[in-house]
Amino acid sequence: MRKISRRTFLVETLQAAGVVALATLGGRPAWAKDETPAAATGTGLLTLNKLDTYPDGKVVIVTEARDSDGKPAKVQLGVLRQQNKVSVISTRCTHKGCTVKLRDDGSFRCPCHWARFDASGKVLRGPAKESLPWYTVKVLETGDLQVDPSQTVDPAVKP
Ligand code: FES
Repeated sequence: MRKISRRTFLVETLQAAGVVALATLGGRPAWAKDETPAAATGTGLLTLNKLDTYPDGKVVIVTEARDSDGKPAKVQLGVLRQQNKVSVISTRCTHKGCTVKLRDDGSFRCPCHWARFDASGKVLRGPAKESLPWYTVKVLETGDLQVDPSQTVDPAVKP
C-alpha cells in the first residue's frame, strides 16, 4: 500500500471530487471548450453563396452567410448540392447546440458529448434525441441560395 501525506491525500481527494462534480453536472471536458455553440442559425432568411460555388454530391459546411439586412451572420449549416438541386441541413447539435463535425462517410459527430447523426441527420447515438433539421432553401435569380431556418423539410422529401 502506498504511503501518502495528509496534504497529498487532501489534494487527490479534491481532484477526484472535481471530476465527479463535472461528470454529475454534465460539464464538458476542457478540450471541448472551443466547441461552445458559436452561432445561432436564427430564424430570419439567410443568403448563402451561389449554387454553382458548391461541389456536386457532397455536403459543404457553411459558417458564414448574410442576414435579411445583408449583414454578415454566423451560421451552422451544411449545403448539399445535387446537380441543380440543393438541400441545407443544420449542423447545430440538437442536444446543446455545439457545431457537429462532418465525417468522411457523410455522417455527423458532435464533439461536445459525442452524439452521432447519420447523413440524413437522424440520431444514431445520444445524448441528442432529435434529428438535425433540413431547411427550406431556394435558388434566387442571382444564383444565391436563400435559406429559411424557420421552415423545415422532411429529409425524405428534400430535393
Ligand atoms: S451538444 Fe451535447 S452531444 Fe452535441
